[in-house]
Formats: sequence, structure tokens, C-alpha cells
Amino acid sequence: IMISVRLFCFIWHGLLLFHPVQTGNVLVLPGEFSHWHNMRVIVEELVERNHSVTVLVNTASTTVKYAKEKGFRFQFFSVSLEEHDLNVMFTEFMDIWVQYPNSSILETASRVLNIMDGFVTYHRVMCESMLKNKTVLEILKQSKFDVVLHDPFTPCGELLADMLDVPLIVALKLSFGFTLERICGQMPSTPSYVPTQPVNFSDRMNFLDRVQNFLQYAFHTLMVFTQMHEMKNIFSGIKEPTTLCDTFGKAEIWLIRSYWDWDYPRPFPPNFVFIGGHHCKPPKPLPKDMEDFVQSSGEDGIVVFSLGSIFKNLNLERRNTFASALGQIPQKVLWALSGEKPETLAPNTRIYDWIPQNDLLGHPKTKAFITHGGSNGIYEAIYHGVPVVGIPLFADQPQNILFMKNKGAAIMLDLFKMEAKDLVKALWTVINDPSYKKNMMAISELHHDQPTKPLDRAAFWIEFVMRNKGAKHLRVQAHNLTWYQYYCLDVAVFLLAVVGLIVFLMVKMCCFCIRKCCWRTRRKNKTE
Ligand SMILES: *[C@@H]1O[C@H](CO)[C@@H](O)[C@H](O)[C@H]1NC(C)=O
Ligand SMILES: *[C@@H]1O[C@H](CO)[C@@H](O)[C@H](O)[C@H]1NC(C)=O
Ligand SMILES: *[C@@H]1O[C@H](CO)[C@@H](O)[C@H](O)[C@H]1NC(C)=O
Ligand SMILES: *[C@@H]1O[C@H](CO)[C@@H](O)[C@H](O)[C@H]1NC(C)=O
Ligand SMILES: *[C@@H]1O[C@H](CO)[C@@H](O)[C@H](O)[C@H]1NC(C)=O
Repeated sequence: IMISVRLFCFIWHGLLLFHPVQTGNVLVLPGEFSHWHNMRVIVEELVERNHSVTVLVNTASTTVKYAKEKGFRFQFFSVSLEEHDLNVMFTEFMDIWVQYPNSSILETASRVLNIMDGFVTYHRVMCESMLKNKTVLEILKQSKFDVVLHDPFTPCGELLADMLDVPLIVALKLSFGFTLERICGQMPSTPSYVPTQPVNFSDRMNFLDRVQNFLQYAFHTLMVFTQMHEMKNIFSGIKEPTTLCDTFGKAEIWLIRSYWDWDYPRPFPPNFVFIGGHHCKPPKPLPKDMEDFVQSSGEDGIVVFSLGSIFKNLNLERRNTFASALGQIPQKVLWALSGEKPETLAPNTRIYDWIPQNDLLGHPKTKAFITHGGSNGIYEAIYHGVPVVGIPLFADQPQNILFMKNKGAAIMLDLFKMEAKDLVKALWTVINDPSYKKNMMAISELHHDQPTKPLDRAAFWIEFVMRNKGAKHLRVQAHNLTWYQYYCLDVAVFLLAVVGLIVFLMVKMCCFCIRKCCWRTRRKNKTE
């Protein structure tokens, strides 16, 4: 009996071991630059969970295709973008702010619109190369994916999912009431208390702020609808003419890279999942020479300094201003700077082409973080509780920094007007005024006080969609309404008509009665 029980256990164990693990087949359409670094963390988590992951990447990619495949694989599609290289266009885009920092909003807007032409072409070429490449489409069809994970930075991913007939998950940063999630995702957004870009206010708006916010909503809506028109033209040769929201609106889940530790509260539909900070991790040990440098700072600690790729375009004078300011503080500085170096560098400052930012911010000696306010960096600062000196340039950066400033966890400087003494003073303040650290720790504690980790949440919902072949039960019916149905304008018109009719009838009736009375009295008078 003993033996048979053992045998049974053995077989049972074996059955458990060889029971097919529920794993899926994921197609990832990543964005470039920081978007890919962000998405990559999810890809690695999916690989860790034994899913098969394919990353679709174009041959002109500026970031993704240089990544080492670790457990996932690339599927390339060729695209030729001679004059619309993404790097070049982004440099031009950044130049709008870097070269003409003093222009008015109107001038800036007209320059942006000019460059937008280039982006529209990029968009079109990209979509056509992806959706018209029969070979690649066939390979993708054969792969029988369970889900498409799409960063809208890459154009037309939502259409690809539609063509492959695979459930779509959209991953993006909620940019403070920006348009895609509002118009295509049906996330309720009210201009009275949800600020949109670009703003110089929080969710507590006075009358003029609300006027500005309202107009920005209108402008964004207009942009999306003109873009939809553009899309219709692009796709008429590929697919049934369709609109942006037709396809985006089909997304099963919206993975939003923010959270209430770092966004203003607002309502959202049940298929919105907030995963802000999912890329942050406990720090790993630093490389030996870096660790030695950090340790040499002693009591004063270190300052981590990274402005992303902004410096590539910045003139020598600004670099020197930074270098001279950094030379005046007692902390050691680790400065991530690619391209031209400043002329003189104080001994407390070291320049690196690349720094392990998350590990440095998690280092106990780190006192402050100088950043341009990209969302990845801000979340790492929140995760590790490091106060911030923000030097934003464009896009969502000013808003990101403004939010931290309003919470008392950051000081904001102007990249072009800033002098060395301003930076010295700002650094001194965030390091020596304990309120900054305290406020940042408060945000950090909120961030860590969640029932599940953001990365687990992301993975769970991706797996959920694969298990259940979608998440249609979370989809609000607002998607199927026209705008006048959505605002109940048809109902209002109907009710007004009913009320109008009743009023009309009552007036008529009154008139009738009055006339009858008058007539009678007149007749009476006459007979008298
Ligand atoms: C993934 O597969 C490996 C080896 O087959 C196994 O050891 C591991 O437990 C699996 N992980 C998960 C999350 O299922
Ligand atoms: C599709 O992409 C593949 C992979 O990059 C490439 O070899 C092929 O030439 C492309 N086909 C067309 C029609 O562009
Ligand atoms: C912008 O204005 C500031 C003064 O407000 C001036 O110092 C700076 O040189 C100007 N920058 C450019 C590029 O014109
Ligand atoms: C926002 O507006 C206030 C007051 O109008 C001003 O003091 C502040 O400098 C502005 N901030 C930015 C980032 O423009
Ligand atoms: C809502 O729209 C979707 C796609 O546009 C469609 O598949 C679905 O049948 C519609 N549902 C209703 C109740 O009309």
C-alpha cells in the first residue's frame, strides 16, 4: 500500500509538473526613446511569466532595435524614412524651445505646426510600411497572438490589432486630460476641474483658468478630429475608411502610466488601469568606480543630474553655467551628459554618457535630483523619495514639475533665464530645507501604499485579456452613442418640445377662455 501511495503521489506530482502552464502569445508595439524603456519593463515581466513575446519594430527605429533580445524576439518590418528620421525631427522639435526660448505662444505654435507636417509624413510612411507589408502581415497572422500591447507613440498599432483581429491593450501616459483617452477611451473629463495641457495651474482653477482650460479642450478636440480626417485619407487604400476613435475605442484595457500619487483625482471607466511607476525597482549595486565616487562624498551626499537628451542642442554657455553652479555645492555630482562637454569642470562633478538612474536615486547618499521632468525620472524620484530641482523644456515636462512643485517637493527653474546662483540656491534649498524631503517622502509613501504593485497590475490585466479573450464587459456604452445622445441633447430637445407644446396649449386655452368671456360680457353689455 505504501508503495502504491508513493507511486500515486509521484504520478500526481508529475501531472502537476507537466500540467501545461497558461501562457500566452503577446505582440508588443513599443514607442521610441523613454517610451520603450518604460514598455520594456512590462515585456521583461511577461517573459518572466513564461509568455511568448514578439516585439514588432521598424528598421528605422532609433531606440528599440538596438535593445538586446532577452527572452523576447523582434519581428522587423522595413521602412525607409530618409528625410523623416525620428531623431532629426525630435532635434528640430526641441530646437523650437531651445533656439527660440523667448518667442510668444503664437510663434511657438506656428513652428510646432510646421514640424507637425514632418510628423504627419512620418506617420503615413510608418503606417503604410507596416500595414502594406504582406510578408510581415502574414507572419503576424500565422503567429496567432492572444493580445496586442500598443504604445500610441507608434502609429497604427491599433489598426494592426484590428486587422489581425486580436484584442488590443493601449499603454500610455495620461497627460492631464489629454485627448486620446478622453475622446477615444471615453474617460470623463470636465474642463471645470480636470486641467489639460499646457497649463500653469492645478485642479483648483479660478474663472480665467477655467476659460483657458475650456478653450484648450476645444482646441484638442479639434486637433483630434482633423487628425481623424487625415487618417481617413491614409487608410482608404488599406482598410475600410475608419477613424482614430473607431479603432482606439476598441481597446479592451487602457494601461495608464500615472496614479493618484501623481495626478489630480478624476473619474474613470472600469477598463482604465493605473500603473504609474511600474518601471521603478529597488536599487541594484552601482559599478565599482561609481560607488567609490559616491562614497567619497561623505556626509554631504550626492546630486544626480540628468536632463535627458535636451543638452544635445544646448549651447556651450548653458553647459558652462551648469558646470560652474555645480562646482559651488559641497555635494558630489553625477551628471549624465552626452555630446559636447563644458569647458571647465569642478572636481566634485563627474560626467557620464549614461547613468543607472534608478539605482543612483535609490542610493542612500542621494540628496537631490536635477531633471527635465520626464515621467520616467519623476516616478523614480517619487519611488525613492528624492526631492527634485526641475528644469523642464516642453511637452508634459512643465506640468510634471509644476505638480511636484505644488506638492512642495520640487523647485522649478527656467532653463534659459537661470543663472548659476539660481541653481546653487535651488539645490541648497531642496537639500537643506527639510520640508522638501518630507513632502517627497509623503508622496513616496502614498505611492508604495497600494494593494498590488503597479507592474503586477499591468501583467495581471494583460493576462486577464488573454484568458478571457478581451474585457468587453468593462466597456462603457458611451462608445456607442453619438455626441448628442451622450449629452442627452436629444432628450433635452424632446422634453423642451413637450414643455413647449403644453405651454402652447395652455396659452391657447387661456386665450380661448378669455375670448369667450369677453365675447359673453360684450354681448351682455350690448343687450343691456
Ligand atoms: C516558467 O517556466 C519555468 C521553467 O519551465 C518554471 O520554472 C517557472 O516556475 C515558470 N514561471 C511561472 C511564473 O510560471
Ligand atoms: C517587409 O518587411 C521585411 C522585413 O523588414 C522586408 O524584408 C520586406 O522587403 C518588406 N516588404 C515590403 C513589400 O516592403
Ligand atoms: C531671452 O531673453 C532673455 C532676457 O529675458 C535674454 O537674456 C536672452 O538672451 C534671450 N534669449 C534669446 C535666445 O534671445
Ligand atoms: C504661472 O502663473 C503665475 C501667476 O500668473 C506666475 O507667477 C508663474 O510664474 C507662472 N508659472 C509658469 C510656469 O509659467
Ligand atoms: C457598440 O459598438 C461596437 C463597435 O463599434 C459594436 O460591436 C457593438 O455591437 C455595439 N453595441 C451596441 C449595443 O450597439
